[in-house]
Amino acid sequence: MGLNNLRPATGNGRKLYIETYGCQMNVGDSEIVVSLMQADGYFYTEDIGEADVILINTCSIRDNAEQRIWGRLKEFKRYKRAKPGLLIGVIGCMAERLRESLMEQEQIVDIVAGPDSYRDLSKLAKDAASGTRGVNVMLSTEETYADVSPVRLDKNGVSAFIAIMRGCNNYCTYCVVPYTRGRERSRDPQTIVREARELFDAGYREVTLLGQNVNSYSWNGKGFADLLEMVADINPLLRVRFATPHPKDISDRVLEVMAATPNICKHIHLPAQSGSTRMLEQMNRKYTREWYLDRVAAIRRHMPECAITTDLIAGFCGETPEDHAATLSLMREVGYDFAFMFKYSERPGTQAERTMDDDIPEDVKTQRLNEIIALQNELSLESNRRDVGKRFEVLVEGESKRSSEQLFGRTGQNKVVVFDRGSYKPGDYLTIEITDCSSATLMGRPV
Ligand code: SAH
Ligand code: SF4
Ligand code: F3S
Repeated sequence: MGLNNLRPATGNGRKLYIETYGCQMNVGDSEIVVSLMQADGYFYTEDIGEADVILINTCSIRDNAEQRIWGRLKEFKRYKRAKPGLLIGVIGCMAERLRESLMEQEQIVDIVAGPDSYRDLSKLAKDAASGTRGVNVMLSTEETYADVSPVRLDKNGVSAFIAIMRGCNNYCTYCVVPYTRGRERSRDPQTIVREARELFDAGYREVTLLGQNVNSYSWNGKGFADLLEMVADINPLLRVRFATPHPKDISDRVLEVMAATPNICKHIHLPAQSGSTRMLEQMNRKYTREWYLDRVAAIRRHMPECAITTDLIAGFCGETPEDHAATLSLMREVGYDFAFMFKYSERPGTQAERTMDDDIPEDVKTQRLNEIIALQNELSLESNRRDVGKRFEVLVEGESKRSSEQLFGRTGQNKVVVFDRGSYKPGDYLTIEITDCSSATLMGRPV
């Protein structure tokens, strides 16, 4: 063994357990963390009981996300009591937001590492083991972990996430992400294509390209549409998805590439947040309702079969009944196939927190959210009913949750389809005729 192979194996075979909250970016980051820690001599375990280091990868997007994590940290106390020397690390967005104060508030925390300091984690763990609490929350303008091969923790073996960029420059007024994840930066496309090809060779059949605003991907003159083409070119059997495009700059060129490329899935997650131009302005979303509807029309023109899904926020600062009604009417006008729906949650440090009044009473927020959810349930059911009788290409992902006699997979539109097991297996492509549906699922039979 050459000297170059001698890494400082600070882990010495100690066992690492990691728990992940928040968005897909965090899921991807946990896979990078495990890869980095393994290279430093740690062993990954799925059994929290045998862990020497417990990491919790955290989310700050809404207050309830943080509350869940505080609750979980309290539960970790008993592991620490049972095993003196056990290290607890908080990583991710909440680590970035709360920094040293995390350790003060929760005495059991030994390590705090923000999203750009994971290369430093094993050193922080070593310091913590020798009694110095390890904190690194430096944000970077360059770190993309481009050279790190993530250890795939979600073992369905069919679909995987690939981060193509990090950070966000958009500063929507309600949002904490630009503060927790720092400046936007793109990753070298060659490393992205290499990662996707390795996944395909290992049997994966679907990759989702991830970023907070994938349309602004940029590397030496190459944009997001170019990257989509490069990844889709790897193999026609590799499905390509992406999340999330920002409505303000989803271009016709991206839509053209999608339309022209069969293995790019016909699904666009296009977060609207609100249907009221006045609210969108307050949110600093940089588009109007009309602009958004124009983009939806462009999607439908290029790809009539494309699914459109969204994120919506109820009860943002100053939202009037008319603004709320505009959100409901936007939902009807677009006819979303699916939506993530949230009550506005004020986040410390954001522009909204500093300059606006969180003035919508909790019960009004709840009522508006409930109206939004009820309408979306109707729209999802209508969308699914339109699919009954049609045929879709489905990529099989695994066993259905309800019955071991059935499998589930997804259509290109990202809808879950449940069907009889037969002799199919995860990773297979089947043509399925839809026979029935609920608002959440399609049922079908292979043809
Ligand atoms: N970058 C992505 C979204 C990331 S956060 C995008 O811009 O589309 C995911 C969703 O959380 C957002 O789309 C928004 O709907 C919601 N969200 C963000 N901050 C929030 C807050 N303070 N309160 C409630 N919902 C919020
Ligand atoms: Fe947050 Fe807006 Fe950036 Fe999305 S685009 S992460 S909502 S600031
Ligand atoms: Fe949460 Fe950070 Fe993602 S705040 S939603 S984990 S970018």
